[in-house]
Formats: sequence, structure tokens, C-alpha cells
Amino acid sequence: MSEKLELNKRIEFLEPPEGTETLRPKPVSLFENNPIDLSVLKKLEGRSIVSVKDFERDEVIELAKLAAVLENFEIAPYHIMDGKIVTTAFFEASTRTRLSFESAVLRLDGKVLSIPEGGVTGVRKGESLEDIGEMFNAYCDMVIMRHTETDSAERVLKSLRVPLINAGNGSGEHPTQSLADWYALLKWKPELASPDPSKRNKRMRLGILGTPGSMRAVKSFLLMSLMFQDRISRVIVISQMADPFGDDLVHELEKAGIKYQVTNDMQKHVSKLDIIYMNSIAFLGDSYKNLDSEYQLNRNSDLKEDAVILHPLARLSELDCSLDDTAHNLYFSQAHGAVFMRQALLISVSGSLNRLPKEIPTVK
Ligand code: CP
Repeated sequence: MSEKLELNKRIEFLEPPEGTETLRPKPVSLFENNPIDLSVLKKLEGRSIVSVKDFERDEVIELAKLAAVLENFEIAPYHIMDGKIVTTAFFEASTRTRLSFESAVLRLDGKVLSIPEGGVTGVRKGESLEDIGEMFNAYCDMVIMRHTETDSAERVLKSLRVPLINAGNGSGEHPTQSLADWYALLKWKPELASPDPSKRNKRMRLGILGTPGSMRAVKSFLLMSLMFQDRISRVIVISQMADPFGDDLVHELEKAGIKYQVTNDMQKHVSKLDIIYMNSIAFLGDSYKNLDSEYQLNRNSDLKEDAVILHPLARLSELDCSLDDTAHNLYFSQAHGAVFMRQALLISVSGSLNRLPKEIPTVK
């Protein structure tokens, strides 16, 4: 590693309380002794990302390694997206996704056209998404879109000729959220990303408190977890719904050959879980619904000592603030790390990898 990059190490912005190191796993462990394979990331250039199924496992791992470099070193002096314009078109509410994408673009010296809600566009006059997509072609180099309708990505892609990144489509998917989720997990257990099988840890038991079929972030997380099925011993879905998956997910679970079970009994299973992914907000029909809210965790819950909790946020009563300063909290690392993971994706999709500093650790 060059001295120049060492000198430009980033200032930490999320210091964990003493003794709770999992709150802030160090990014360096993801790329030291495991350099980035840029040839894998180059395959993402110009690609639209609508679903987790648009990624391969090696792409997720290389994106996480690049994100870790971006988190570890100050990259602003390299102006990596200088000259690129990104539109963030949010036809549905967001705190984290829109702002972290915009922060990611601005930190790379790109420019942002921001639509914070659909009411400021021609949608208000009845304009179609297909026509709006045609306009985007002239205004920007990439579109990041969130919408209440599940078929919105498919519709805008009918006219869009610049890459689209799906930032959440109704009850469909949220693929960049699962990139952020897995970035947090890979920092926590870097051996999951190691090419050396002997460095990999024991298989983990993954618990989901929520309804993947109705919660796009949970669905995308589960789909991405299937890419790492050799590291997961079992998936346990704890839901109030008798069928929390829907047909597509059952097919994917069975194709991956992963062991899974559905239960409504949290108390019976929670103490055996290594990773807990939870959420209670679903966008159903035309409004937000609070599902599975009876499953609540707090610092007195019967968790394994080294279990970690992920949550896409926003949270309601299911995730008590008393867990925030415990070693179970991976959700703040997950939310903060999203900026760097989204930077890595933007650099790759916009074809800007050649502007990365030559000193970063890459496969030669
Ligand atoms: N995780 C997530 O999608 O958060 P926002 O709805 O705030 O973007």
C-alpha cells in the first residue's frame, strides 16, 4: 500500500463504545491479503441493476472490497466521477437510500439531479414513467429510481438508454440495500469473502424476522444470502404469515439447496441464531403496513452472545434502542457503510474504474 494512501486515511465517523467492536468492523481486513479484481467489476459497466439476480457472487465480493478501500482512504482528491451526472428519482419516501446515493455521487465529485418526490415531476399532470425515462436519457448518465409500483423499473426501462439502479420498487426488490447488508456482514466476517476455504468460519444460522414476500429489503437480502449458501447452515423465517415467501422465493430457496423453515415462534429459535435480519414495514397496495410487529428485540432478549442484528431501517417498535450500544448492533455499520458500497457500484456502473488511484490493492 502506498504511503500516499496511508497518509490520506479517512477520519472515523462512527466510534464504537469500548468492548463492542462489531459496531464498527474495520474495512481493511476485507482487502489486505485479498486485492480487488477489477476485471470482475468491469463487467458491471453500463449494466442496469433491477434485482439481486443481476449480480454474481464474485461481483458482490469485489464491490465489497472496493467499498472497503473507499471507506478506509480519502478518495475525494481523485475526482472519480467528475463530469458524470446522476439523477436520483424518488417517487416514494426515503431517508437513507436517496441521501446515501447522493452523498456517494458528491463525494466522488459527480453531479446530482434530485427528484425527492414524484409530485415535483410531470407525474402530477399524468405523465407516464415511459415518457419520463425518455427525458432522463438527455439529462444524465445514470438513473437511481425508487417507486411505489413493483413494475416501475420494467416500465421506465422501456425508454431508458442509460443505466438504471433500482432503489426499491413497491414490494419487489431493493438490491443496493442487500449490497449494504452484505458489506456489513463481510466486514464483520471477512473470511466469508476469502478465496481460501480454510479461512472460512463455521456455517452460520440465519434468522429473518419479517415477511420476505412483502418486504423488498428482506426479499433482496434473502436472495443475496443464497449466493453465500455454502456459508449458511439454515434459514429460519419467523413470520406471522403462513406463507411469507411467495412462489419465486420458494423456487430460489429450493434451487440453492438451502435448508429453511418457517415458524411463528420467535422464543423457540432466537437464541440459536448467528445473524438476525429484521424489518416490520412493508409497502402493500398503496400504503405502508406494519407486519410482524409482535416480534420485538431489546437488550434483554435471549440472543447468542456473538449474534448480530441487521435492519434496513426505518425501525419501529421491533428493534429497541436499548440494543444500540451493544455488540449485537450491526445495523448502524450497515447504514453508514452503504455510502461506500454505493460509491463502489456507481464507479463500476459508470465506467470510472480507470480513475481509481493506481496505489489501491488490485490483482496485477
Ligand atoms: N433502508 C432504506 O431503504 O431506507 P430508506 O427508506 O430511508 O431509503
